[in-house]
Amino acid sequence: MPQLNLALASVEDYRREAERRLPRALFDYLDGGSYGELTLSRNAADFAQLQLRQRVLRDVSNIKTHTTLFGRELTLPAALAPIGMAGLMRRRAEVQAKAACDGAGIPFTLSTVSICPLEEVAAVSALPFWFQLYMLRDRDAVTDMLKRARAVGVNTLVFTVDLSVVGARYRDVRNGLSGNPGTWGKLRAGPLSYMAHPRWLVDTGIRGRPHQFGNLTPYVPNATTPANFKGWLDSQIDPTVTWKDIEWLRQQWPGDLIIKGVLDPDDALAAIDCGADGIVVSNHGGRQLDAVASTASLLPTIVSAIARRAVCLVDSGIRSGQDILKAKALGADGVLIGRPWVYAVAAQGQRGVRQLLETFRSELSVSMALTGSTDLSEVDTRILDRG
Ligand code: GLV
Repeated sequence: MPQLNLALASVEDYRREAERRLPRALFDYLDGGSYGELTLSRNAADFAQLQLRQRVLRDVSNIKTHTTLFGRELTLPAALAPIGMAGLMRRRAEVQAKAACDGAGIPFTLSTVSICPLEEVAAVSALPFWFQLYMLRDRDAVTDMLKRARAVGVNTLVFTVDLSVVGARYRDVRNGLSGNPGTWGKLRAGPLSYMAHPRWLVDTGIRGRPHQFGNLTPYVPNATTPANFKGWLDSQIDPTVTWKDIEWLRQQWPGDLIIKGVLDPDDALAAIDCGADGIVVSNHGGRQLDAVASTASLLPTIVSAIARRAVCLVDSGIRSGQDILKAKALGADGVLIGRPWVYAVAAQGQRGVRQLLETFRSELSVSMALTGSTDLSEVDTRILDRG
């Protein structure tokens, strides 16, 4: 008999609850990675295998998990990562997650391919959030979205550069979510799976409409059916993009610019040369180039190459507050939390995300105390047990 949890505690608990609540195709879209999922599993494993070094008797009565990123004081060195289609996992999930972030004191990042549009998320509160964008072939759509983001108070742009072609996610193919599923595949991924999850059906399937990519509605011809959105988006992925386009983007965007999807020291330096204020060391959560190394293993070399000339964030594999501390020890200024927040929102909505962030904060704080660190700014490789 499955164990009945009275409360959800770890990311794995939220993950299992999300799996119970979501139609199979949606859970797999969220949970899966590209091809053999080698990088997906290495990301978490490489953070997990780093060991912390315990120190004792150092007066740890006053632990500071606060940090300042892009001019804003945060309660922990983290932001929520942009995740596409989150609003299909729970009713208006991007709005719920933004509200949870406001309560927790960290930024939310809205994906280009979110369900809730910029304007709906901005209406949650006056607190700022971050916006993620891809380079689309339709540059007018790009500049218009930048304008809309500015208009609603976004001052930090997270620009994704590792999606000039799309890595295949075989779970999505099997579930009929991508490729050419045929009638049976469409039924299995759609109505049959949805009917088997009545709580999702009522909360998200019915009460969570409209299920459009809200940011893109003005640009997609006949923006009514999911197939039209998908067709437009597929045709918009631009494989011709180069650093020249990032220079162009830099001219369009007056706020802070973070380049996400950097895994190589030379690329990190190129991003800085283009005027980026920050980078995210990321392999897209193991959803793009499979068999590429984990971010935990690549981070130290990139940190030393950029030599504090830009803010260095890391994502892909962060599953706990201990991982946040390890990322700091390896030289990151902060992390993006991806899948965990969507597991939490799918499981329990805004309350789940709020609790998850509180768990991460407390794990970070306890781990700092027991490694003898009271201030995050002083954390470095000395807190790792390299023995
Ligand atoms: C989109 O960026 C995805 O990873 O699905």
